[in-house]
Amino acid sequence: MEALYILNNLLGKVIAVKHKKVSFLLAPILVGLSLQASAGGMENTSALDAEAVQIVKSFAGTLKPKLKGAIAEGGLVNAINVCSVEAPKIAQTLSAETGWEVKRVSLKARNQSSATPDAFERIVLEQFNERQANGEAAASMMFSEVVGDEYRFMKAQGVQGLCLNCHGDSLQPEVKKALAERYPDDTATGYSLGDIRGAFSLVKAL
Ligand code: HEC
Repeated sequence: MEALYILNNLLGKVIAVKHKKVSFLLAPILVGLSLQASAGGMENTSALDAEAVQIVKSFAGTLKPKLKGAIAEGGLVNAINVCSVEAPKIAQTLSAETGWEVKRVSLKARNQSSATPDAFERIVLEQFNERQANGEAAASMMFSEVVGDEYRFMKAQGVQGLCLNCHGDSLQPEVKKALAERYPDDTATGYSLGDIRGAFSLVKAL
């Protein structure tokens, strides 16, 4: 199992290198081939991807309106409080409802207890940063792979204007203060538009 995991990581790296040389039209085919190879053709990976995309849509589609509503109602500090309660709740509810383990991770985590990436997530997040630096938009960026007896899916989350209020490099003083109180080890600031803020990370036991 350990060997397979390492092999999969290496495979991911080789593919990431290939991405640079081939056109982006070819890249998804390469990823697809690697998936088929590692799944041994036993799993319908595109159906799993479609399921994961739906779960991510419902995560973002629940959280973003709550965030916007909280800002409109009580400003950014209020929205920080709402986000810190609602985001983990949505992740828990979706995990319970879908049978996938659902979370958000980042190379620069705000919530250190839920968002610190594991070894696999770290590699994929680094690849997302590379892909973004090579001109790929965050909106459609994803990666999935069979790892041992798990199916792992990650979808990048890009930084939009709204996000800069709490993840940018010039925060309002009261926002800074509220974040420091709630997240003393916060590293999730200093982002610019279009950066990869983090990713939704989903795991399903096969
Ligand atoms: C009102 C402030 C606020 C805004 C605006 C905001 N966030 Fe956050 N963000 C937070 C807080 C607070 C957390 C920690 C939530 C928790 O404790 O789970 C967080 C956590 C995250 C995480 C989870 C990883 C981590 O570091 O904990 C991601 C990913 C994320 N935000 C992306 C975004 C994106 C993308 C946008 C814009 C669409 C955005 N955020 C806008 C406050 C904000």
